[in-house]
Amino acid sequence: MQTDVLIIGSGAAGLTAALTLAQTCKVLVLAKGDLKSGSTAWAQGGIAAVLDAGDTFEDHIRDTMVAGAGLNDRATVEFVIERAPAAIDLLCELGVPFNRDAGDLHLTREGGHSHRRIVHVDDATGWAVQAALLKAAEENPNITLLPHRTCVDLITGRHEAKFSGSGRVWGAYALDVESGKVEAYTAKATILAAGGAGRVYQFSTAPRGATGDGIAMAWRAGARVSNMEMMQFHPTCLYNLDVKNFLITEAVRGEGGHLLHPETGHRFMADYDPERMELAPRDVVARAIDDQIKRYGLDYVHLDISHQPADFVKGHFPTIYDKLLGLGIDMTTGPIPVVPAQHYTCGGVVIDLDGRTDLPGLYAAGECTESGLHGANRLASNSLLECFVFGEAAAQNILAHWDGFEAPPAIREWDESRVTDSDEEVVIKQNWTEIRRMMWNYVGIVRTTKRLERAQNRIELLRSEIEDYYGNFRVTTDLIELRNLHQCAGLIVKSALTRHESRGLHYITDYPELAEEVRDTVLVP
Ligand code: FAD
Ligand code: SIN
Repeated sequence: MQTDVLIIGSGAAGLTAALTLAQTCKVLVLAKGDLKSGSTAWAQGGIAAVLDAGDTFEDHIRDTMVAGAGLNDRATVEFVIERAPAAIDLLCELGVPFNRDAGDLHLTREGGHSHRRIVHVDDATGWAVQAALLKAAEENPNITLLPHRTCVDLITGRHEAKFSGSGRVWGAYALDVESGKVEAYTAKATILAAGGAGRVYQFSTAPRGATGDGIAMAWRAGARVSNMEMMQFHPTCLYNLDVKNFLITEAVRGEGGHLLHPETGHRFMADYDPERMELAPRDVVARAIDDQIKRYGLDYVHLDISHQPADFVKGHFPTIYDKLLGLGIDMTTGPIPVVPAQHYTCGGVVIDLDGRTDLPGLYAAGECTESGLHGANRLASNSLLECFVFGEAAAQNILAHWDGFEAPPAIREWDESRVTDSDEEVVIKQNWTEIRRMMWNYVGIVRTTKRLERAQNRIELLRSEIEDYYGNFRVTTDLIELRNLHQCAGLIVKSALTRHESRGLHYITDYPELAEEVRDTVLVP
């Protein structure tokens, strides 16, 4: 199948790019599961933008760089933050029903922000954003949306019928989950918008499909990957034995929620960050909770907003209130048990301000990238914003250079002549579980060199088993994801071992101080 531009991913980044490109190009969007299966639909808190008269771009830039522990690229931070108001205008035009207060957009507050600056749709912003983008895309005749296509690898010069071996990207091979066939989807330009790698950890707020496919595919095709050690853990994921990955938005703390020791009721953030308390950046709060859990042998800590009026709580957090009530927890009268969980992949495929990767023909946007915005720790609600700004930037760059894009050459068909159906699916399940548990235990919130080396050894041991399996059996989504999870785990551990300092999300007891030199961890394939 051939198109003008192929987009891998139907979340905020992919659909923003698609809607911009569709002014003049034919666009094909592939998604792994259904079209709302990425993280975008799950976002709760909202989108950060300077909209209040008392707020300034400079303040938002400073907050972003303080949270990012100075590893951010200042030019990228400015680029994104200055484009935030226009991104919100566009979403309003698309019909996103943001909460309003006497006509103005209502702004909530989250950790690390010095002002109220988060626009939101109750506590389910992502669902409304995803629905509005999808509706616009479905109505656009230049956009074709194909769900249930799992991309296996990018197509490069290695796959040309007349082998060129060049790094030019011409699209991707994708598994049609229904037919079980792998097809080549070719294009003049390709945009990776395949989301993060959160599921590499046993406990994550991210959806099932966040297996780092975009990062792993770009790496295999020859693109550099950066700052993969900067894995963000959200401080407050619901602790519940049945519901494993339900986020309790940071806005609960923004609207006055306290973190308490579950037995003594002590408001323990006073011992870690007395000035910012519960609204310190995420890395600080997550480490404090982790410390309390380990120090006192707890299963969880309490997040309590029951001192606020019940109508206020229900009005601000209707989705969370209903969900918790269904589990027997009334957040208007008592505390919520919470634990930290992996939440966001700050590192990823290296891109420039036009969304270009190292590989000709390949662009990337959103959580699968490292644009320089987040540095060592993402500021809350800056992520959807990054998707809108870079989805648009990549699309604009393609449109501006469209005449220079060549048509793809003939590409080899996917070769299944030497593989059979898997006879032992248990291998996939076993390796999935092993990687995710090992990453949680050895490469988590607080790290040591010894544990990282243990993780590296385990990853090495699994390598041949997984590659063997991939080489001998017909691909399934589970197998494709396992291969990518393993690859991302390797990149995270390698990056973590390379950084000999504690900065932002990377906290390693062997190197507790900041290094003098501020540098990205850049891995070259
Ligand atoms: P996603 O929305 O994750 O979409 C990825 C797309 O790629 C999907 O369509 C998927 O099917 C597709 N895909 C993946 N692999 C393949 C493959 N192999 N083949 C084909 N398609 C593939 N950020 C904020 O700014 N504010 C918030 O309030 C907020 N809340 C959050 C709450 C939760 C619970 C979570 C998990 C994240 C939250 N985030 C928030 C982060 C934010 O939601 C994500 O970073 C952002 O939505 C990522 O968008 P994306 O377009 O890059 O990828
Ligand atoms: C949240 O609502 O706490 C998530 C916000 C974010 O991840 O930016």
